[in-house]
Amino acid sequence: MTAKKEHQIGLTVEKRSVTCSEGETILQATLAQGINHTHACGGQGECSTCRVLILDGLAHCSPRTDREEAIADKLNFPGEVRLACQTHITGDIELRRMILDQLDMDIVSGQFQDESGIAIGSQEQLTMLFIDVVNYTSLAERFPPYDIVHVLNRYYRLMNAIIKEHRGIISDVAGDGILAIFGTGQDSDNSVADALRAVRGMQEGLKHFNVYLDKNFGIEFGIRAGIHFGEVIVGPFDTGSMRKLAVIGDNVNYASRIESANKEFGTDLLLSQEAYDQIKHEYESVRVFETQLKGKTGQYRLYAPA
Ligand code: FES
Repeated sequence: MTAKKEHQIGLTVEKRSVTCSEGETILQATLAQGINHTHACGGQGECSTCRVLILDGLAHCSPRTDREEAIADKLNFPGEVRLACQTHITGDIELRRMILDQLDMDIVSGQFQDESGIAIGSQEQLTMLFIDVVNYTSLAERFPPYDIVHVLNRYYRLMNAIIKEHRGIISDVAGDGILAIFGTGQDSDNSVADALRAVRGMQEGLKHFNVYLDKNFGIEFGIRAGIHFGEVIVGPFDTGSMRKLAVIGDNVNYASRIESANKEFGTDLLLSQEAYDQIKHEYESVRVFETQLKGKTGQYRLYAPA
């Protein structure tokens, strides 16, 4: 009788390795050798709590089963995140268990309710749109807090509806500023064009909103917008009581600086070179500005579509 082949699984959290025999899943091997490997559904491929990050030897992992494929698809797992209960190996691997305690479990349960299409973090090429309100200061200075909050809530609702209509998501709001992201879904082939259409839609929407503002407060809003296209880390951030899809990275700051540059040039919409490259075939007429951006070195070229 020939002995079953055995492979080693290196565990970085536990700083040890376990032996995995042919025919065993990673989960069966770790549990059999005393690792407290989370497996809330009992290894049925339904909970994802046995997930591991393969640090070395991904080529030695079996293809995803249908169950794993369904979860990986729902939670947008990259290739190196695997379900230990569904994966066999054909050679040595090294991995890190990803769900280590109850707090990790709580975060996983939130991921199953996520509808954004990005349930765990990933690196993506996205379009970021920063918008702020021209004239916000005159509202803030002249009216009591409940009026400011009420007006901003009406404004946010209007902007959110328009952003959603153009396949975007509001990632953050701060005072009168909104950060929206485009390109997280699969249903758009040009997220910069979506963001641009959203800006046009907002400008149209503001015309009606301004009738209300003028009648009740004697003021009008305008918006300034900055659009950038680039790589960012995107993922759901969860404080336990508030959950949002947020983007992180230098490209987010860059987008914010572009929006601020509108004041310098008297424009209401500016695009970075990277964003403009995505839509230049649609725009024959643009104004081009060379500038330095606060907090960044070098000269930047910004574009204002007519
Ligand atoms: S233990 Fe539930 S998916 Fe693996």
